[in-house]
Amino acid sequence: MSTQKQLQVSAIENGTVIDHIPAGSLFAVISILGLDKIPNQITFGANLESGKLGKKAIIKVADKFFENDEINKISLVAPHAKLNIIRNYEVAEKKDVEVPDEIIGIVKCFNPKCITNNETVVTRFRVEDKKNIALKCRYCEKITTRQEILMING
Ligand code: CTP
Ligand code: ZN
Repeated sequence: MSTQKQLQVSAIENGTVIDHIPAGSLFAVISILGLDKIPNQITFGANLESGKLGKKAIIKVADKFFENDEINKISLVAPHAKLNIIRNYEVAEKKDVEVPDEIIGIVKCFNPKCITNNETVVTRFRVEDKKNIALKCRYCEKITTRQEILMING
């Protein structure tokens, strides 16, 4: 193990660093935040060594400061992600992601008969269990659990 404190992805001057993303959730986070659709400079690292997670991913978005309800959506796939707000090369603030009370869009309802899977209706869930993630559909009342979560891409 190296004791060198060397950045695996270059530092940014201003913006948001999303750290401690599980390696397998990198592309889900990119999709949830719509990072594929914004003009900002984005750097990321995948499969980086992390004591806690084994392998982690990190995303650095220059000149972007997310609203809480925007960023909290990633808690579904990266519950232990840490946000670092960077101003003038310094870490100005650190935040944890929080599981929101309600999830609108992003996730598909697990019930194939649900209206949201058969008509153009945006999905809407109440988060019944924030620790293990249980999403109760507002339309069919069926529960979608963490293992059953499928993302709506687009
Ligand atoms: N970072 C960055 N650009 C900067 C400053 C920090 O990209 N100008 C990144 C670092 O690479 C790191 C994260 O922001 O991934 C947090 O920085 P820091 O708090 O200095 O690192 P750690 O103490 O390792 O963070 P933690 O243990 O809280 O994850
Ligand atoms: Zn449903």
